[in-house]
Amino acid sequence: MQRIITIERFIIEREHEIPGATGEFSKLLTDLALASKIVWREVSKAGLVDIIGSTGKVNISGDVVQKLDEFANEIFINVMQKGGHLCVMASEESKGLIEIPDELAKGKYVLVFDPLDGSSNIDVNVSIGSIFGIFRRVTTSGKGTERDILQPGRNLVAAGYIVYGSSTIFVYTTGNGVHGFTLDPSIGEFLLSHENIRIPKKGDIYSVNEGYYERWDENMKRFINYLKAEDKATGRPYKLRYVGTLVADFHRTLLYGGIFMYPGDKKNPEGKLRLLYEAAPLAYVVEKAGGRASDGFRNILDIEPTSLHQRTPLFIGSEEDVKLAEKFIQGKAED
Ligand code: AHG
Ligand code: MN
Ligand code: MN
Repeated sequence: MQRIITIERFIIEREHEIPGATGEFSKLLTDLALASKIVWREVSKAGLVDIIGSTGKVNISGDVVQKLDEFANEIFINVMQKGGHLCVMASEESKGLIEIPDELAKGKYVLVFDPLDGSSNIDVNVSIGSIFGIFRRVTTSGKGTERDILQPGRNLVAAGYIVYGSSTIFVYTTGNGVHGFTLDPSIGEFLLSHENIRIPKKGDIYSVNEGYYERWDENMKRFINYLKAEDKATGRPYKLRYVGTLVADFHRTLLYGGIFMYPGDKKNPEGKLRLLYEAAPLAYVVEKAGGRASDGFRNILDIEPTSLHQRTPLFIGSEEDVKLAEKFIQGKAED
């Protein structure tokens, strides 16, 4: 029987692996686990209490804000700002920077997050999630600024996500392996269930919203047609799986291999997903698990953000599949 170890115990035991990490970093990760348990509690009874449905508001990205989006955002902000480890935060559900109130202690870390990913799936009982990334601050003291937030994914010191699904799993990395913890609701603890996750170098599943096929450019169409062609030698046709919740599609890709794509198209040249708190944290996770993430031309982790909510095309998953996608997107592949 696998050793029973809680996420808190695991984080403390691994703390020495993080250069210059103090207990502060471990407490920051532990606070994230707490915040996600509180979000899970609301998600798991979403059908029962009045947090289903929309607030009638629209967020900065033009998405209709669901009540659970707003609730999750408030939970993450309230739990995380009190720990004294952060100098500033940014969230998909908050227009500008989230400052740490004057009366609260500031720390040397920065948190970027998507509090509730897959909002359109809340009302129909399909998996949803949360995504987070942690940077060290760039400025030296006082309140954090945009300079602390607008860092490339290469600078992340930790990143991860939670999937609230048939079971709830917390996956994170601090650069030394990617580890998954499954929530045992009977004791309210995240227990180690997936130590050192490695993504297969090549998969046989592709994940994209084919409803937008006619908006794609010729190279993207050619790539998808290539994946659907019969060719036993290269493991084609690939299977299609698309949940419509990035975190759920990504988690399946991380464990089974293959590729998730949200490309740019004629209507949205930069695609739909946001760089800072969706693509970059998951790119950091996939790279630490042996995979790759690209916008079709550059590694996602090398993109210098210029605005909080900027979007990016995203190709993420098994290294060979993402590299093949890049060749097609760049017009360099023969069918
Ligand atoms: P969010 O709910 O945080 O806005 O994210 C929704 C995103 C992502 O979860 C998913 O991959 C994508 O929306 C699905 O978009 P389409 O419905 O256009 O396929
Ligand atoms: Mn999202
Ligand atoms: Mn969201």
